[in-house]
Amino acid sequence: MIKIYIAPMAGVTDYTYRGILKEFNSDMVFTEMVSINALECARDKTLQVVLRLREGDSVQLFGKDIPKMVESAKFVENLGVKHIGINSGCPMKKIVNNGYGAALMEDPEHIRAMLSEVRSALNDDTGLSIKIRAGYKEHKNPVEIAKIAEETGCSHITVHGRTREQMYTGKADWSIIKEVKESVGIPVIGNGDIFTAEDAKERVEYSGVDGIMLARGVFGNPWLIRDIREYFEHGKIINPVTELDRINMALEHTVRTQTEHPERSFIYELRKHLCWYLKGIRGSALIKDKINHTDSYEEIIALLNMLKENVIEGKGVE
Ligand SMILES: Cc1cc2nc3c(=O)[nH]c(=O)nc-3n(C[C@H](O)[C@H](O)[C@H](O)COP(=O)(O)O)c2cc1C
Repeated sequence: MIKIYIAPMAGVTDYTYRGILKEFNSDMVFTEMVSINALECARDKTLQVVLRLREGDSVQLFGKDIPKMVESAKFVENLGVKHIGINSGCPMKKIVNNGYGAALMEDPEHIRAMLSEVRSALNDDTGLSIKIRAGYKEHKNPVEIAKIAEETGCSHITVHGRTREQMYTGKADWSIIKEVKESVGIPVIGNGDIFTAEDAKERVEYSGVDGIMLARGVFGNPWLIRDIREYFEHGKIINPVTELDRINMALEHTVRTQTEHPERSFIYELRKHLCWYLKGIRGSALIKDKINHTDSYEEIIALLNMLKENVIEGKGVE
């Protein structure tokens, strides 16, 4: 069966959502990216939130300095983490202007030195991988970087089929991912524009990748993992998700957030997830608007229950 990995996504793959995604049997779930500079200061508040780990979580690190990367990887490994990913794909200005993220692709020899030093510092049974883009400005060197990943002992490489310049626009180019797959022996994980089970099957058949990494496709849709498995196995989706499933998951996500993050600031994170779960459900616009204007968990739960009753009765909420 094809491997299904969940992408590192800042502001999305938080502690609570990683717990939900794991219950859908994803093969690997990444944390949001973690700065190796923040790791220097173990009391950093953001770090405490982002590095609140579940068993089996993989951690993604970003930065450029090699000694700091080695130290951070060891720090994370000592927390019990079994797989560390290095970010060579983030396109954001404030990241690439410092030489981090996708900017690393401009200097393959730096990547080689970084990967080999991190690899030799880690225990043999700790996995290491790198996530790259199709290139920086153009489709230039993903094959070169993939070969470096293989030579330096990475357990897989993930390729997002867009260049840094494309950011998130245009379409991911799976021909680049296919080219990488055909050039190296380590597992290649393809990433970009998988929103449905059909997308997954088509991309896998076309490129021959060993696994896929889901990102925006799992916004409010952890069922995509199950859909893909069913589609590969039976040629169709056996248990299509219903509106009620989505409202129930919105309720579950709310209750988990309330218990797992008693600090109120997490309501802001929660709202985003809830809007995704409710997208397209008849009558949900008003409910979403109300959710976005309250900071009471109890009120959110009452609103979701109201929507649920209306869906059960076949009515919208006016
Ligand atoms: C909200 C958001 C946050 C992201 N954060 C990260 C991140 O922390 N590290 C990373 O390597 N990629 C990050 N990405 C990129 C995704 O991992 C993925 O490569 C990209 O969205 C393409 O996949 P998709 O077309 O399936 O969404 C992020 C993407 C989104 C939409």
